[in-house]
Amino acid sequence: MTEEELYRPDIHFTPPKAWMNDPNGMVYHKGVYHLFYQHNPDSSVWGPMHWGHATSIDLIEWQHEPIALFPDSLGTIFSGSAVVDSNNTAGFAKPGETALVAVFTQHNTDGEKAGRTDFQTQSLAYSIDDGKTWIKYDQNPVIKNPGIKDFRDPKVIWYAPKQKWIMSLAAQNKILFYSSKDLKNWIAESSFGEDLGAHGGVWECPDLFSMQYEGKTIWALIVNLNPGAPNKGSGTQYFLGEFDGKSFKSFTDQTLWLDYGPDNYAGVTWSNTGDQKILIGWMSNWMYANQVPTTLWRSAMTIPRELKLMKLGEEWRLTSLPVSSLHASGKNRFQKNEVNAIEKVKISGSTVISFEASAAKDFSITCMNDEQEKIVIGYDHKKQVFFIDRSASGLTIFHPEFAGIHIAPRLSNHPSIKVKLVLDKTSVELFADDGLSVMTSIFFPKKSYQECWVDPQNGQIKGLLLVQMGK
Ligand code: FRU
Repeated sequence: MTEEELYRPDIHFTPPKAWMNDPNGMVYHKGVYHLFYQHNPDSSVWGPMHWGHATSIDLIEWQHEPIALFPDSLGTIFSGSAVVDSNNTAGFAKPGETALVAVFTQHNTDGEKAGRTDFQTQSLAYSIDDGKTWIKYDQNPVIKNPGIKDFRDPKVIWYAPKQKWIMSLAAQNKILFYSSKDLKNWIAESSFGEDLGAHGGVWECPDLFSMQYEGKTIWALIVNLNPGAPNKGSGTQYFLGEFDGKSFKSFTDQTLWLDYGPDNYAGVTWSNTGDQKILIGWMSNWMYANQVPTTLWRSAMTIPRELKLMKLGEEWRLTSLPVSSLHASGKNRFQKNEVNAIEKVKISGSTVISFEASAAKDFSITCMNDEQEKIVIGYDHKKQVFFIDRSASGLTIFHPEFAGIHIAPRLSNHPSIKVKLVLDKTSVELFADDGLSVMTSIFFPKKSYQECWVDPQNGQIKGLLLVQMGK
């Protein structure tokens, strides 16, 4: 079997060739979802960053587009965001045109090599042909570096109450907020998080946005962190609170995680999707991203996920579930209302598995090939944790931290657990309790998994459904 057949996912986005990391510049415009991404087109390891580009109308089937942004004399193109400048605040559009504006970090490698601290600055590019081609602003950078080595990943939103743009920017161990009327001139507003959240590594790729819950506005701030995640390496924490156009205040001092698995990083949301918030993450981890055993391309994105607010007692949480369009193309492969003993089901390629189980008993799902390689996903009711065990999943020796069992706490106290698993050739995503406990994990079997064993252990699994996805 070729690498392509064995490892290229069916329903997860991958670059046509070479290296990919963070999703960038996600914007919904004229019925099209744009996805840009950190891309080194000349190698399958990280290097001089460009913005690769893809488009989709359903967030599942992607069409590759030409590279959107290339390095220039200011630096390579690091992560950032894009907005639709409907009011032409930046003045890039002529009458009758609408400009898309990308805001991104330029990383100056020469400055970094020379030992300077000001080598990351923020720049603009715009498109007046609906994202097909991009023109860099001729007065870049728009934010110079004040002497902070890690100063990057601008995410811009429109703050309607004050008719201005707000930028969240990661600055080593905190998030800085800036505001602007025209996307070109930025004023520093405030700083958040030095003394809150997880700080086991550098803060990167923030995202501030508002959400509605029964007529109430709640603000979410996503902060990616590397290293320092619950299962080591890269991870995504979030804060919920208030934002007044100037500063963000968190409701609690608890650290909250969007995904407890090892392989969801740098996720941020699409802009211009109204009240619907859709996040996509890079399905890897900086610990081993450059060593995973594919050579023609490296890394995939997660399934796009819809974020919602949930009330847990008096506290707020963010949940994530696969976008509903994932379900449009599936074909039911197996269905059973009550499973009381191990149920073996053949699989091929990508499969969505869903069921409901009692929270008072353990359960597990093992997917395997005939070489005894397997991935085990389950729940331990005594410890109140979900787990994904990839220690015998296939190739693991490329990095000492890859093999292992990863866990996520159960946060709900509902007597039954709703489970959804999105299984692809080289990844599994677990969404439990309506997306309250989420885990993402990648794996590389030497032969594709052909069968899943659904094991209710001493309990009962209800409403088991396996849906065959993709080709
Ligand atoms: C996160 C990150 C960003 C940076 C980009 C560089 O994975 O380190 O902070 O902009 O990747 O590729």
